[in-house]
Amino acid sequence: MTVGLGSGSTAEAFIRALGRRVATGLSVVGVATSVRTAMLANGLGIPLRGLDQTPLLDLVVDGADEVDPDLNLIKGLGGALLREKIIALAGRRYLIIVASEKLVPRLGTRARLPIEVIPFAWESTAARLRGLGLETYLRVPTGEREPFMTDGGHVILDGVIPGGPDIRVLSRAIKEVVGVVEHGVFAGMADEILVVDPAAETRSIRR
Ligand code: A5P
Repeated sequence: MTVGLGSGSTAEAFIRALGRRVATGLSVVGVATSVRTAMLANGLGIPLRGLDQTPLLDLVVDGADEVDPDLNLIKGLGGALLREKIIALAGRRYLIIVASEKLVPRLGTRARLPIEVIPFAWESTAARLRGLGLETYLRVPTGEREPFMTDGGHVILDGVIPGGPDIRVLSRAIKEVVGVVEHGVFAGMADEILVVDPAAETRSIRR
């Protein structure tokens, strides 16, 4: 089985569990969505390939920052959204695991929208995004002076989603802004959400 391995703390919990199964004989090949995930999977003995070697994946498992009632997602708080989206599109099934508080009535309720942009003249990209009604903030890790850099060498602008416009319409407009590489709206992509709640049984929501 070929499995896309997500990024972030939830995906890492899944990868550790998968590593335990691999140690007892399960045969899988993983494709990592970030350098950090690749290092973790390597350490656990999960065999890894590139997407060029395995362009079609049986399953992709990842976390998310928000899930709306139509199973649209916001992802990218961990900064791996570009590779996550490329790998999600290669999966026959896309499974998202989230804690129950990440289910929201509307995307942008609790999370900002991460937008990956090229570092060159990022201020003018931010100005064009402002023209779409999207106020953005350059991501700088707490206690650091330099901006956060993605695995692809880009920076992240975290945007406050304005009330009003449909998220699909807004995200298409964002993608058209010169300087934008990708955004963290994953619309219509997830097949199944596993909702984890310490006070209740894990439940599944399917498209
Ligand atoms: C990484 O870039 C993100 O898309 C993560 O998948 C998302 O932020 C969820 O992360 P946690 O599981 O750590 O909350």
